[in-house]
Amino acid sequence: MRIDKLLANVGFGSRKEVKKILKAGVVKVDDEVVSDPKTHVNPEEQEVTVHGERIVYKEFIYLMMNKPAGYLSATEDLSQETVIDLLEYEDAIYDPFPVGRLDKDTEGLLIITNDGQLAHQLTSPKKHVPKTYFAHILGEVTEDDVKAFKQGVVLDDGYVTKPGELSIVESGPQSIIYLTITEGKFHQVKRMFEAVGKKVTYLKRVKMGPLPLDEELEIGEYRELTDEEVDLLKNAKGVNA
Ligand code: URA
Repeated sequence: MRIDKLLANVGFGSRKEVKKILKAGVVKVDDEVVSDPKTHVNPEEQEVTVHGERIVYKEFIYLMMNKPAGYLSATEDLSQETVIDLLEYEDAIYDPFPVGRLDKDTEGLLIITNDGQLAHQLTSPKKHVPKTYFAHILGEVTEDDVKAFKQGVVLDDGYVTKPGELSIVESGPQSIIYLTITEGKFHQVKRMFEAVGKKVTYLKRVKMGPLPLDEELEIGEYRELTDEEVDLLKNAKGVNA
């Protein structure tokens, strides 16, 4: 790749600003000063330094966020804050995007990456990757609901959901549950409970495929996935897939 693109990608400013840095003679490739912005470098094999500091280039970034309520799962919006607004500059420069959508009022596990292939793998309706949610429900969740979810319930638009695995933590006028589903229809968890006459009052995603939310992350915090976690996600198998 061109040296000016590489430096811009890792945060040295616009291509114009990068040109100035190159002109200043402070950029070296394998110990040779490079000042031509068109110079091609291979960041995986060659050592690129600026003011003697080595540039660490990576193509992909993989983040796990504990999404707070109040933020859109989008890259930009004219009037509302998005999860990308919560990223540090050095992460945002990779142009990552959220993998799948959590509603504005939903919290919990959100993967943010610029790896389109992985995002597709995790969200494609054909793959059936399971997602687990923790929720507070207004209404008494019963074993009948467990059975109904296992069979699939009819949503407000007539769609019959794939089997969902509902487990009841507490049942009463306000219930607490975990629900694992393999689809990602719009407002799916909320609409599944509406289908059985109940209302979700709090929703948090706690697992995506084999990857649980790191509970050490405070709401609104994020961290990079480890290489092992990225491999786990890449090898995530869907149910019946
Ligand atoms: N189901 C919902 O209803 N909302 C979400 O944010 C995720 C799943």
